[in-house]
Formats: sequence, structure tokens, C-alpha cells
Amino acid sequence: MSIEFSLQSARPTEVEADLLVIPVLAGAELGPGGDALDAALGGGLAAFMDQAHFEGKRAATLAVPAGDGVASGAVLLLGVGESSELDADAFRRLGATIAKRSRKHASVASTVVDVPTDAVERVDAAQAFAEGVVLGSYQYLEYKSEGEAGQLARVTVLGRRGARVARALDRGARVAQAAAWTRDLVNVPSLDKAPETVVASTRALLRGTGVRVTVWEGQKLVDERLGGVIGVGQGSSRPPRLMKLTYSPAAARTSLALVGKGVVFDSGGISIKPASGMETMKTDMSGAGAVIGAMSALADLEVKTKVTGYVPLVENMPSGDAIRPGDVLTHRNGKTVEVINTDAEGRLILADALALAAEDGHDAVIDLATLTGACVVALGEKVAGLMGNNDAWTDQILAAGERAGEPIWKLPLPKDYRKQLDSEVADLKNIGDRYAGALTAGLFLSEFAGDGPWAHLDIAGPARAGSDDGYLTKGGTGFGVRTLLELVTKFRKPR
Ligand code: BES
Ligand code: ZN
Ligand code: ZN
Repeated sequence: MSIEFSLQSARPTEVEADLLVIPVLAGAELGPGGDALDAALGGGLAAFMDQAHFEGKRAATLAVPAGDGVASGAVLLLGVGESSELDADAFRRLGATIAKRSRKHASVASTVVDVPTDAVERVDAAQAFAEGVVLGSYQYLEYKSEGEAGQLARVTVLGRRGARVARALDRGARVAQAAAWTRDLVNVPSLDKAPETVVASTRALLRGTGVRVTVWEGQKLVDERLGGVIGVGQGSSRPPRLMKLTYSPAAARTSLALVGKGVVFDSGGISIKPASGMETMKTDMSGAGAVIGAMSALADLEVKTKVTGYVPLVENMPSGDAIRPGDVLTHRNGKTVEVINTDAEGRLILADALALAAEDGHDAVIDLATLTGACVVALGEKVAGLMGNNDAWTDQILAAGERAGEPIWKLPLPKDYRKQLDSEVADLKNIGDRYAGALTAGLFLSEFAGDGPWAHLDIAGPARAGSDDGYLTKGGTGFGVRTLLELVTKFRKPR
């Protein structure tokens, strides 16, 4: 169910919503609409907050008995903390808090976006708030017999009218809806997520969005020499696919390629993973999910650049047909790889996809992949690792991540480590030595990315959340969708 946002300048006490949320700043200072509420309640609000020890700390809430003077059914005070600390991410989190408190309500109205702050422009606050509401209300109930779906359908943002702010609310809702779709796909159990099924879901999602979907399978993958995709996929009874998604607006002057790792389940293959935690490997297609989800919103966001998605989809399974350690694969660009560890499979399928993207000659390429546990060790579960061959391009990505509120940290690609990938029998092998696994994985990919601007975002940590936290919900997070949509909106050819 999608949530509708509207911007109104009505008096908060006269708005008829199921829930009215009034912000309170640190020190129990009433925010916009607070005085009107106080007057409508007969002037006891300060004493009421005092008795409840409510100080306006960020995300603290206090229910207020609504009287006849208030048109809404219920009233909630929402702490927003210090106004100087109210940046975009704070609004995203406040949106999520409101969403969680409105689960049982169909409509909510709030003045929170009107809280004055120097830490963010009001348009950006509005977008972030809408994102927070939609992402914070996300639930995955597909496999629950008696899951209770949230009721929230309408959000009225109270404050000064302005076309830019109204558009920002719509944009935030659209961006978050794309990320929610990605969360859904990531959360699907692998049993119901064969490569072929992902193709079908993608086709259904992209129908009517101006994105063309072409799919390679079977002999076509052989004819097109995608040795990595075929090799990794051959252990599974559910065969691999390569999807190409094309968004080509009239008069586009720049062209960007998005590549996403789509391992629908990563058992490790013959180099099988330990049992504990293996269930989380249903999320090993999060890079693919981010690319597909982002592409679904390009037309709605009126993106002007050409965007092409390359999505290899495989299941990494051990079987009599699976590739073995020691096997050699030949990739799209002719390079041969000795597979030392079949669990380092993501780079093998990305190798083909990156080579394809390089052939097509885009202005820049970015890949997203849940690629290495080493990146999680280095940066934890909230921060993605960025590597690349062009500083202007990685700077653009860092800036997009910053604006989108998705933490990204740049890592190096030390030339000196390349020799770790030297193979005795092939052009290179698929793993390095014990240390710096995120970087040797990045170096491996760089061998297939060609000479144009390319960057690699390792999202092994942030693609999944271990618990609910603000606008993140346990399971798939949709990480990357917001950054990609910022990136395509402001894309400039890197030099
Ligand atoms: N899908 C995993 C990486 C991963 C780990 C994603 C943890 C999310 C959370 C990847 O295919 C993998 O297994 N990588 C190996 C590489 C190793 C064999 C060189 C790893 O990181 O252990
Ligand atoms: Zn693996
Ligand atoms: Zn993997």
C-alpha cells in the first residue's frame, strides 16, 4: 500500500487527522503548532510535559489527551532535540518514528517539517521526512499467516505552502517506494527467488516505466561467452540469467551503467559456507535489487541521463554439476580465472557484466555488490566500501551517498596487491591472501571494468539490517537505491 503525502498550511488544531503530531524542541520548547495546541487545550501543556518529564529529546514521544478544541482524533508530542542537530537524516528518523506511532491510524498530520533549523534546507528536510515515513512503515508480511499490516495511508505535512516542498515530498515518497520494492525482493526466501523468478518480478515492476528488459539464458549465455555467469550458475538446478535494463530518455546527453550482483542464494558452492548464518545469504542479490529498484523510478523522477542496468542472476550451489576449486573459467573479455574458492563467486559473475558494460562504452560505470565479509569487518554493518579507478567519479558517488543519507567510505585499490591474484595456470585467480579481502576483490573487478570511469560499491554490510533501527527494518534495507537515484539525477560525465 502506498502512502500519500500532501502539504497544507491549515491550522494544526483544525486539521482532521487520526493523529496530530506536534514537535517539541530540546528543553520542552514547543515547535510549530505548539502554541495553537496549548491554547486549544486550555493552556496546560507546559505543566503536562513537566509532570511527564518530557524534555523534547529526539524521538521521545508523549501522548496528549485531545480535547474538543482539536479536530484530530489523537495528539502526540514528538521530541526533536536540538534544532542545530536537525539534519536530513534526523528528519528521516523522525519520519520513521511518526510512521511507527501511526501504524494503527489511517491518517497523520504533523508540523515537524516546519521546525526551523540551519542544518538542512526545508526541501531536503521534506524529502528526507517522506523517505523516513515510507521506509519506517515498511513491513514484510508475505509469509506471515496473521501479520497485521499497518494502516497509514495519508500524511499531511503542515507548514508554509511551496511547490518545491510539495515536490520534495513526492520525490521522497517515490524514492522510498523504490527502496521498499528492493527490500521486498531481498527478503523473499531463496526457494521463491530463482533467477527466472527475479526476471519475472523485474518485468512486472518495470512494465510501463519506460525501461526495456532484455534477458539472456541458456545457449545465448554460451554464445555471448559469459563464462563466469555460466560457471557459478551450473551447480544449481535453477539456471542463470543475464538481464539488461535500458532507460533511454529522448535527448539524453550522458550515459551511465549500473551493475548489480544477483546471487539469489550463496551457499558458497563446493567451498561451502558454515551452517550458522547461512540463511542470510538469501540477501546476496541486494546489489541486483538496488539496481532494479532504482531503475523503476527513473521516469517518475524525470531522470535525463541514459541509464543501463546489467544484472547477472545465479544461484551458487554445490552439486555434481558445480564448478570445483581449481577449475578455470573464461570470461566475456577473454580473461581466464582460476577458481580457488567457489565462495568468491560474486566477482566471477560481475566480471562478465562489467566487461559487457565496458564494451558498451558508457560515460561511467558503478557496480553494487554484497561482495566480501572483509568489507563488513572493515566498515561494519552500516557503511559501504567504495573503490574505483577515477577520483572524479568516486567523488560524485561519495557526494550522492552523503545527500541520500547512505554512509559510504572510500577504500584504496593498491596496485601492489594485484600480485596476490596471480595464478599459476590462468590470467588470475579469484581470491587473494589472508588480508585486505575487500581490496583484492576490488582489484579483481578492475581487471574487467575497462579503462573508463568505474567504481565498485561493496554493500555486504549495509544491505542487511540485523535489527529494526529508525527507518531501517530487520532484513533487506534497500541500501544503494537512494544513492543511485541521487547519482543519476545529478550525473555529470567524470573527467
Ligand atoms: N556473499 C559473500 C559476501 C558476504 C559476506 C556478503 C557477508 C554479506 C555478508 C561472498 O560471496 C563471499 O562469500 N565472499 C567470501 C570471499 C572469500 C572466499 C575470498 C568472503 O567474504 O568470505
Ligand atoms: Zn560467496
Ligand atoms: Zn556472494
